[in-house]
Amino acid sequence: MCGIVGYIGPRKAAPVLLEGLAKLEYRGYDSAGIAVRDGRKDPEVIKVKGRLKGLVEKTEGGENVAGCCGIGHTRWATHGEPSETNAHPHVSPENMVVGVHNGIVENYQELRAKLERKGYTFYSQTDTEVLIDQVDYYYRKYKVGPIDALAKTMVRVRGSYALVVMFKDYPDVIYACRKDSPMIVGRGDRESFLASDVPAILKYTRDVYYVNNLEMVRLSGSGVTFFNLDGDVVDKDMVHIDWDAQAAEKGGFEHFMMKEIYEEAKALTDTLNSVLKEDGLDFSEIGLDDETIRSITDITVTACGSAYHTGIVGQYVTENLTRIPVRVELASEFRYRDPILKPSTLVIVISQSGETADSLAALREAKKLGARTLAIVNVLGSSIAREADHVFYTLAGPEIAVATTKAYSAQLMALYALAVKFARVRGNLDEKAYKGLLNSLKALPEISSRILDNKEKIQRLAAEKCAEKDIFYIGRGIDYAVSLEGSLKFKEISYIHSEAYAAGELKHGTISLIEDGTPVIGVVTQKNTAEKTVSNMVECRSRGAYVIAVTREGLEDLVTKTADYVLTVPATDDLFMASVTVVPLQLIAYYVSVSKGLDVDKPRNLAKSVTVE
Ligand code: AGP
Repeated sequence: MCGIVGYIGPRKAAPVLLEGLAKLEYRGYDSAGIAVRDGRKDPEVIKVKGRLKGLVEKTEGGENVAGCCGIGHTRWATHGEPSETNAHPHVSPENMVVGVHNGIVENYQELRAKLERKGYTFYSQTDTEVLIDQVDYYYRKYKVGPIDALAKTMVRVRGSYALVVMFKDYPDVIYACRKDSPMIVGRGDRESFLASDVPAILKYTRDVYYVNNLEMVRLSGSGVTFFNLDGDVVDKDMVHIDWDAQAAEKGGFEHFMMKEIYEEAKALTDTLNSVLKEDGLDFSEIGLDDETIRSITDITVTACGSAYHTGIVGQYVTENLTRIPVRVELASEFRYRDPILKPSTLVIVISQSGETADSLAALREAKKLGARTLAIVNVLGSSIAREADHVFYTLAGPEIAVATTKAYSAQLMALYALAVKFARVRGNLDEKAYKGLLNSLKALPEISSRILDNKEKIQRLAAEKCAEKDIFYIGRGIDYAVSLEGSLKFKEISYIHSEAYAAGELKHGTISLIEDGTPVIGVVTQKNTAEKTVSNMVECRSRGAYVIAVTREGLEDLVTKTADYVLTVPATDDLFMASVTVVPLQLIAYYVSVSKGLDVDKPRNLAKSVTVE
């Protein structure tokens, strides 16, 4: 996700834009830029690679940029490496249209090819430049006004966007439209503001309008007008914001972690859609064509922490679907064990930051040994992304909380998509089964977010029953894999000792630690192992444990009599249940940390990216 701002009024626009962008840097920070118009003159466009402070220095805090009408952007790159060229704002020929965009244009290649056939050329790798030229095309071809040009563009574009533009022929006016990406508009005395999020404009006004999906906006100093897709004016209620600025940066959430848990569904959707074409999954853009996929004889996944846990889920899913042998190795171990790899081995390195030292070293070791490497990373242009042979970007947007949630979920989606595609290409899945699994993946974002409706129930359970001296998570197969993640979440933000165990292993020693009231979370979603896990839960309960069952719809009867507390999650394909089960486990960790008054987003001793060995 990126941050966008706009201003028109009596003030110098540049300083207002820069202040707004500073409040939105949490939304993206790999490059930034502004475009400001001084009356009828062409816009002055200033862009930098890197943090916003470079732009502030370049414009002397905006003081050396004339004009009262402008737009600005701070970027989280999704298409096109972080660079000054790819930074927003982007301009169409003769500066007819200049704009900034937050979102993802899913059909940008198709649009770009058509525009190239009509004579457009492109200077950047971004989907945004294509979007701006699409507006330019409709504006020139149909000789319609800005609102009609935007409406035609919205009908043509697939994806998400908060698009803000200025037209050469319309000085002192800003136009905007949105679908799925957030946008708010503010009104002051003879001045109008636009931003991705409330914090950007709180200094100037607390009177805002929330722009709805498929609405367009015209902003001038004298007022703002809203339009629907048909171009009809729509009335909107103004909202007075009473949040403080700090709370507003988290979109009204108390912590980034909860905000990011709520963003998991979108991260799943955007990640899947990035490889989903009209006729199914397509990895050719990242270099994994069918022939390459068929050439792979074995897979090694290597990562750290939560990324490692997604690899374990991926191992179960990939082996189940493709029958390709999959090993999962901690990166810090892999790099020193002189691994046995072949040119036909695919080494998958998973990393949210793309900068984890051990994972980067593991990647280099794999390349040195001649294996093919694929990075699954969340940060465009990060070291691991740049050095791997292939890159599959998770589109989770910037993740601020140290405890990963939405990036973990997006990594799972990436692994599912790879496994389903590999199985189809290698003949393990017929068309019907393939389509069925694809439909399950498309439905996963909505299913996984449903548990959020019961978060108050989970809050009570967490605060009343989980904040003990120890806590244990047990499960089998994918239930064990997700237990590992639940346990890590819990310990890293609550500072309580937590362990995840393969349910069948507990009795080989660790069960001696179970005492009266020790919470044991039994994850029971896999039909083929459910009864076995329930037996292990009974073993714990008979030794005094407080047993919490996290199970799926349809298996409740199995656990009702053996658990002290049952949390039921919606059901999906067993193979993808980790994406649903992980959400209540994240919430349990979150609420225990909150109940202890700890710094949920910045837990002690930890860093968001461990760039040291
Ligand atoms: C997870 O909540 C932790 N923040 C940590 O385990 C993290 O997953 C690990 O350090 C790997 O980071 P990466 O994904 O950026 O490589």
